[in-house]
Parts: sequence; structure tokens; C-alpha cells
Amino acid sequence: MSRFQVKEATQLQITTEAQLEQLNTQGYVVIDHFTQDLTMLASVRKEVELMAAEGVLQQAGMSKGETKWVDKAVRGDMHLWLNDRDRIRLEWPNVVALLDKMDAIRQEWNAATDFQSQQTQTQIACYPGEGAKYVRHLDAFGQNSRRITVLYYMNVNWQPEDGGCLRCYPNDENGKEIAVDVEPLADRLLMFQSRWVEHEVLPAFARRYAITMWFY
Ligand code: OGA
Ligand code: NI
Repeated sequence: MSRFQVKEATQLQITTEAQLEQLNTQGYVVIDHFTQDLTMLASVRKEVELMAAEGVLQQAGMSKGETKWVDKAVRGDMHLWLNDRDRIRLEWPNVVALLDKMDAIRQEWNAATDFQSQQTQTQIACYPGEGAKYVRHLDAFGQNSRRITVLYYMNVNWQPEDGGCLRCYPNDENGKEIAVDVEPLADRLLMFQSRWVEHEVLPAFARRYAITMWFY
């Protein structure tokens, strides 16, 4: 279970104690204006569009053991793993600067709480529109798996009719499952508990970009 307590609240600078509390109790938290830097957002978005144009994003698939397959009725995004930040720092400096900023959350939690996360995994994903979606799922199973999912959205001028909400299914205070829709708005960060918050991407009708970092 990934609930962690603040030991040194004074050390928190990126997140707040209240946000940590919400992540612990409700299972998810939204942080708007994460970078507060529209120039950075535009530069990241430009690099990501370049990745898409260069064809480095691949159709995301499913796998079970050695078997891999693609089923757009289950998952319709194009994606790329960005796990080796140093290898891509020169090519995509703005994307990597953003990843460093996301990872700084893990580091501040490591310093200020008993989180103790030693590993991350990162992907960039583009839902091309035309109803691309990802059916309801859980990101992690069992011990030593992902603990926290951190999503950063880059969609300027996203409209309600573009769909593409992240619908997550946390429990309310009575333990009853509820559905919460989070629009993939520019500069919005969404974090949730990878092992117990099921979620889905509702059909997107415009290009929808997100970076996901998992804290192990
Ligand atoms: C995933 C996922 C959500 C999103 O990649 O596992 O659930 O909002 N993505 O892109
Ligand atoms: Ni997921």
C-alpha cells in the first residue's frame, strides 16, 4: 500500500501536505499550473509534436508474457518509453527538463516522507483523436510494482467536446466507488495510486498528449 506520511513538512516545495493527504486518502490529486511556465509548456509541446511527426511514437500494445498484440478497441494511443533521460537530453532538452521536474516530486517525498522510491518509468503518449481510448484498467499489480502514476497533460485549448477525460474510480469516504473525470488540460498534473485506482481514457476526438511517469 502506498500511503506515506510527512516527516518534515517544511521540506515540501513542489507539493503540499494537503495534496499528499488527498493522494493518501482519496487515492488521487490534481495539481493545476504545475510548471506555471507557458514558454516551457510550448517548448515541450513542440518537441512532442516533432516526435510524433518523426514517427518515433509506436502503436501501444498489450502483452502477456512473451506475447504482444495491438487492439485499438482496448488501447488506441501511440507511445514511446523515455526511461533513459540522459540519452535523450540533447535531442529533447525541454521534455527532459519537464521529466526532471516531475521526478523532483519523488525526490522531495523521499526526503520528507517515508516514501522511499528508487525507480521511475516514463512514457509519452499521443491519442490521435478519432475516438482513440484506453479501457478501464489498473496500472500495477503486486509488490515491487508501480506505486504512484503521475500524468502531465499538454493540451492547450482542449474543449469539452474533444472528450478524452481520464475517468478514475476512487472510493468516497464511505468506501463506495465513485467516478471522477479529469480533463487533460494544459499544464495539469494528475497523480493517483497505481495499485488501487482503476481508470480509463474516454474516447478522444482531438490529438491528446500526455507524459506519464510511474514512481516504483
Ligand atoms: C496509461 C494511462 C492515462 C492518460 O497509460 O496507463 O492510463 O490520461 N494513461 O493518458
Ligand atoms: Ni493507466
